[in-house]
Amino acid sequence: MADIIEKVIDETQQGAAYQPFANDPNSYKKKFYIESYGCQMNFSDSEIVASILNEEGFGATGNYTEADLVLINTCSIREKAEQTVRNRLKAFRQVKEEKPGMLIGVLGCMAERLKAKFLEEEKLVDIVVGPDAYRSLPGLVQEADTGQKSVNVLLSREETYADISPVRLDSNGVTAFVSIMRGCNNMCTFCVVPFTRGRERSRDAQSIVNECQQLFDNGYREVTLLGQNVDSYYHTEADADGNLNEVTFAKLLEMCAQVSPLLRVRFSTSHPKDITDDVLHTMAKYNNICEYIHLPVQSGNTRVLQLMNRTYTREWYLSKVKRIREIMPDCGLSTDVISGFCTETEEEHQETLDLMEQCRFDMAYMFSYSERPGTLAARRYEDDVPEDVKKRRLTEIIKLQNGHSAESYKNDIGKTFEVLIEGNSKKSDDDWCGRNSQNKMVVFPKGTHDLHKGDYCTVKVNDATSATLIGEIVA
Ligand code: SAH
Ligand code: SF4
Ligand code: F3S
Repeated sequence: MADIIEKVIDETQQGAAYQPFANDPNSYKKKFYIESYGCQMNFSDSEIVASILNEEGFGATGNYTEADLVLINTCSIREKAEQTVRNRLKAFRQVKEEKPGMLIGVLGCMAERLKAKFLEEEKLVDIVVGPDAYRSLPGLVQEADTGQKSVNVLLSREETYADISPVRLDSNGVTAFVSIMRGCNNMCTFCVVPFTRGRERSRDAQSIVNECQQLFDNGYREVTLLGQNVDSYYHTEADADGNLNEVTFAKLLEMCAQVSPLLRVRFSTSHPKDITDDVLHTMAKYNNICEYIHLPVQSGNTRVLQLMNRTYTREWYLSKVKRIREIMPDCGLSTDVISGFCTETEEEHQETLDLMEQCRFDMAYMFSYSERPGTLAARRYEDDVPEDVKKRRLTEIIKLQNGHSAESYKNDIGKTFEVLIEGNSKKSDDDWCGRNSQNKMVVFPKGTHDLHKGDYCTVKVNDATSATLIGEIVA
């Protein structure tokens, strides 16, 4: 049982990765190493940090033992995420003991949550920087070089790093993340993000479109627009005649889709209370906007949803799913689920399973509730579902979802899809891998076709596992 839970959690946003460099580190006077945890926004932020450091003469290296500056971009979403970071810091400490000049910096959500307390708890850390303070990193590094500990965890109402061109780390050269907003104004009671990321703010639309255009010009063929709640994207911009135009998320999607029909557009994350018909119709209208929606439900019971402050009911969620499938019958759908939130009863848990039966998600990220200090739930409610009950409910959720995923992938056998080639498959250089519009990974033999990374091809599916479609090129 523990095995399945570990596996599923490993495959979620909790993934860790060091991000190898995009530029030759030897052309810089100093080297930095960055490792990122948590959601895609954190990975995207690390690319902004890399850009800021490049400007300061730091080149990225994939080997922390040779770095002058070791950075860890952290996540606070669940206790386990924070534990992972502390374990990594132990590994860095060993290197630092032999190399005292090396600086260690903690970035991201854990830095924001713990602030200067981090320096007391983890003596080896030299720099603590919150998500809105990355521009001050060069100054903080200079300060730390003189032996002082340095901290900047100020949150901002304006910072969007709109003018900074991210340095693409760990890139396949085909797909990239583009941040469209920061922060979150939804106070879901279980969630630490509003505290670590601050108020929601949208980045100006033209800078987003320009970034998409640049990516396309550099050979990228897919962008994923990122925000904690993309449906509440909103920006007003003056046009050439000085008129103020409102840009909603639907409008922004359209603007990005118009960069080129060969540029795929994805987005994450949608909130069930905010996703509009306008967005759905825009998705349906443009062939290059992928038909895939990640729509976290969290719970299938209205009372629990209210306690979570999700501001929708079970029925509202089900009607959104129905609407998505009316407008886009083939739309891929995934979700997030939390088991064992405060006071959740057995019947309420059954309602979550029942909702999953009705929605038949293609994929889900599933977690057991982890109380986070300072959140509304931690202050208001008792974390009273015993750990073993949370885990058992999670196992039931995972088991059900595994069946649904297997079924969803199996249903695709015999269908053909347009696939964007992302690179060699993990297992064999003789096979390509790439995704279909619904975000399912497809693996197929290269054969004698003259295709390359970044090309589109039509693939017929012959076989499937619960996470991969296996096929052959037909055009
Ligand atoms: N902005 C996104 C979610 C970001 S966090 C949204 O609103 O859907 C990603 C997922 O982590 C959440 O959807 C939730 O399922 C999970 N999560 C967040 N806080 C959690 C906690 N305290 N315990 C367990 N899971 C949590
Ligand atoms: Fe957290 Fe809710 Fe904001 Fe998502 S919408 S980041 S779950 S507060
Ligand atoms: Fe984690 Fe912060 Fe993202 S808490 S999930 S890294 S916004």
